[in-house]
Amino acid sequence: MEVLEEIKGFLGCETPDRWIDEAVSQQDILLIDHAHCEKKAASTAMTLMFRYVDRPDLLNKMSRLAREELIHFEQVLELMDARDIEYGHLSSARYAGGLRQHVRTSEPGRLIDILIIGAYIEARSCERFAKLAPFLDSELAKFYRSLLKSEGRHYQDYLGLARQYAGEPIDERIEFFRVKENELILASDDEFRFHSGEPSW
Ligand SMILES: [Fe+2]
Ligand SMILES: [Fe+2]
Repeated sequence: MEVLEEIKGFLGCETPDRWIDEAVSQQDILLIDHAHCEKKAASTAMTLMFRYVDRPDLLNKMSRLAREELIHFEQVLELMDARDIEYGHLSSARYAGGLRQHVRTSEPGRLIDILIIGAYIEARSCERFAKLAPFLDSELAKFYRSLLKSEGRHYQDYLGLARQYAGEPIDERIEFFRVKENELILASDDEFRFHSGEPSW
């Protein structure tokens, strides 16, 4: 899949094998946190729709994205139900917060940074689904492979909007967030989540 190769280049580092081991052995937490991630992805897109009502391309892309994330959310819930996994609250991974703490406070920097971070979150999700799928049972593997395509497109939507609205090259800003993202993914992390780093135990 072409976009997956592009995404690997964009991310610059692969999910550690130790994270894969942990995901395979903690599939309940994986799915519960995954459900939260889909819901948060929809919520982030809708927040942008409320804040930037004067940007038609953003409104269209984010509206479609929010709908797709909610469908993913429902699909995860259905899978959890079939597996008798109870949905509940979980503390958030440090990942999204760790990226968002660097968002600039003035516009359009704020918007551009949020869009770049959106591209990283989608790209990392896509890379994780792809790397994890071969180690899962056929039902979950099939589901995760089916998500690849839309998360790959979400990555492209976010990055495209960031470039469109910046009005100037943003390669340096993308590189800045790549360094921060890679730190969060490769550094030792105390808890396992969909976007957690290298397990510390
Ligand atoms: Fe999704
Ligand atoms: Fe997505």
